[in-house]
Parts: sequence; structure tokens; C-alpha cells
Amino acid sequence: MVCLGNICRSPLAEGIMKEKMKRLDLPCFIDSAGTGGWHAGELPDQRSIDTAFKYGINISSQRARQIQMEDLDTFDLIFTMDQSVHKDVLSIAENKDQEEKIYLFLDYAGSSNAPIVPDPYWGQTKEFEATYRLIDQACDQIIARLKKEFL
Ligand code: 4NP
Repeated sequence: MVCLGNICRSPLAEGIMKEKMKRLDLPCFIDSAGTGGWHAGELPDQRSIDTAFKYGINISSQRARQIQMEDLDTFDLIFTMDQSVHKDVLSIAENKDQEEKIYLFLDYAGSSNAPIVPDPYWGQTKEFEATYRLIDQACDQIIARLKKEFL
């Protein structure tokens, strides 16, 4: 799960997807990262922590990190939260195998709307709530797709 700072959107996506996989007893390794390294080592944004907590998910043990080219080998699927992040992740890919693993998160989920998870960083708590719901629904759609295609 990749966003810009790895403190707002992708920590939510990591936390939500991990929780769903755990509940379904599906053996997947999920992690998140940012294209930027400014927040490396930091906890998720307090508003993401609070929003996830409201839904029973604790993301406070996550720490931000910057995506590395090696991640594109380690992981089978790389999900990007918006077009700009997508472009930046594609730019660190060194071969076609890596490139082909990179998907816009909402595109992969089959979302009928614009495939962008808006960045709530400059917004208020209500934007974080909307982000949570958007990601939560997309995770359900992605799990349904993974079950059909891989599991
Ligand atoms: P994220 O949000 O990409 O969802 O983690 C942001 C977090 C921090 C910044 C921008 C977006 N920032 O400019 O520091």
C-alpha cells in the first residue's frame, strides 16, 4: 500500500487490509510505504490512528518508511493511492516484472469512480473518516478479486 507520506492513507490501507485478512484467515503479508521519506520513522498521523481506532483497528505500531526498488521484487502486488504516487512508483521500477505489479488501488478494486484516494492530510477529521470508508470498501472488493484469482 503506497501513498506520498506513509502517514495518512497507506497506514489505513495496511491496517484495514491486515485486519480483514486476519479475520478471513488468509495468508498474506501486507505492508505500506510512502514515495517520500520526510516522515520516515514516524507514527501514522494521529487522525488516521484515531479513525482506525474508532473502527477497532490499532495502527499505532506502524512506522513510516520510504518505498525502495527492492519492494517491487518482495511484493506480488503494489497498490498506489493516486496518479501522482503511481507515476513515482513506476519511475523506480527497473524492469517489466516490477512494472506489472503496480496498480492504482481503486482501479484494482474495480471502483467505478475516479481511481484516486484523496489525500486527507490538509483536511479535517471528516476527510479521514471518508478516506477510511473508501479504503475499507475497496479492500473488500480487492479481497473478493484475490479470492477469485489467487486463493
Ligand atoms: P499521505 O498524506 O500521503 O496519505 O500519507 C500526506 C502526508 C504528509 C504529507 C503529504 C501527504 N506531507 O506533505 O508531509
